[in-house]
Formats: sequence, structure tokens, C-alpha cells
Amino acid sequence: KRKGFIFDLDGVIVDTAKYHFLAWKKIANGLGIEFTLEHNELLKGVSRVRSLDIILELGKVEASQEDKDKWLLQKNEDYLSYLVDMNETEILPGVMKVLKFLKEHNQPIALGSASKNAKPILEKTGTLAFFDVIVDGNDVVNAKPDPEVFLHAARLLNVNNEDAIVFEDSVAGVQAANIAKMISIGIGEEETLHEAEYIFKDFTQISTTFLELLINN
Ligand code: BG6
Ligand code: MG
Repeated sequence: KRKGFIFDLDGVIVDTAKYHFLAWKKIANGLGIEFTLEHNELLKGVSRVRSLDIILELGKVEASQEDKDKWLLQKNEDYLSYLVDMNETEILPGVMKVLKFLKEHNQPIALGSASKNAKPILEKTGTLAFFDVIVDGNDVVNAKPDPEVFLHAARLLNVNNEDAIVFEDSVAGVQAANIAKMISIGIGEEETLHEAEYIFKDFTQISTTFLELLINN
């Protein structure tokens, strides 16, 4: 049966989660709101607009739309400043091997990301050509855990939801894949991602035997 592999971007393909964190921390601290790595887990996989709302809720800060728009812009400019020199060295361990293996086995591959910065990141890291389909923050309305982004990707890949395999580093993304009845693979810590069907610390832990199993099942 035809399978489809859907990859999240930030924290799965590239190590950009740390830049999102730094940029949000600057905004939060500027507003007198404490922002820890633990708080940051709440933002992973979540859209830019929703992320700001979560930070403001954490700090019990109310703001006008005008201020929010200003902070969203500041956050993104700061975030983009970290990406200027981005190249293939920021691809996370084992990712290239898995992408190449899937390509060699003619497997359909999609990006399913909440980020509006996805395409330039794929270009800078030289990974754009691996993707048959790209669904990112510019294409969807509802943020993960809403499954919209993955449903859209599966449709474009022309695979049934049950035959789609999703790689995610965020709780919201794992939940989105599960809601869509897709096979969820968590990349990260077991204690954070326990809702995923399979969990690996990183892509170096994923064997070709496991990938063959996914392809042929
Ligand atoms: C997700 C990240 O991939 O994209 C979130 O995990 C981020 O942290 C979201 O907020 C939106 O990204 P961007 O690049 O459009 O601000
Ligand atoms: Mg992510």
C-alpha cells in the first residue's frame, strides 16, 4: 500500500527550536514575564500568533492588537537574525540518512509545519528537494494540535490518513497526528512525547529495518 512520510520542521529536521526560544524569551522578558525552557515546551508546534497569546496568558498580561502585532514582528525579525548564516550543519543528526533512505525507496515525503519560515529554512539547509509536498504556516488556519496541516499534507501526497507516518518533536504535533489517525513518531524525550505511537531520542536511533517495516506494513 502507498505510504506517505510527513516531517515536522522545527526540532525535527533542523535545530531551530533554540532560536524560537531565544526570540520569545526576549519578548517575554521585555514584558516582565519569566520564560523558561519548560514554558517553551508549550510553544513547540504552536503557531506564532498562538505562541504570543500563551506567553501573555502566562504573564497575565493584556494587550491591544496593535501591541501584539508589533511584538509578533519583533519576534520574527529577531528569529530570522539567527537564520542568516544557517546551512546544512544545522540539520539534526540522522535526518539526512532517513530522508535519503526514503527517497531511494520511492516513498512520498511531505513537510507538515506550522512555520511561515519553512521554505527558506529548507533552501538554506539544502533539504528542499526531498519534499514532494510542502504544507506550512502559510497554508493552514488551525494550529496543531488541530490536525489540519497533516490532513492537508496527506491529501496532497495522495495517501490515506492511516498510511501516513508523522515525525514530530512537539506534544501538540503528536496529538495532531493521533487525532488524524496517522502513525505518530515522537522525536525527543519519552516523558514529554509519551502520547506518540513510537518514540526515538533522535533520527540516529531509527533503523532501516524499522523504516522498511513502516513502508511494507
Ligand atoms: C513551529 C514551531 O514549527 O512553528 C513553533 O515549533 C513556531 O515554535 C511555529 O512558533 C511558527 O513558526 P514561525 O517560523 O512561522 O514563527
Ligand atoms: Mg517541531
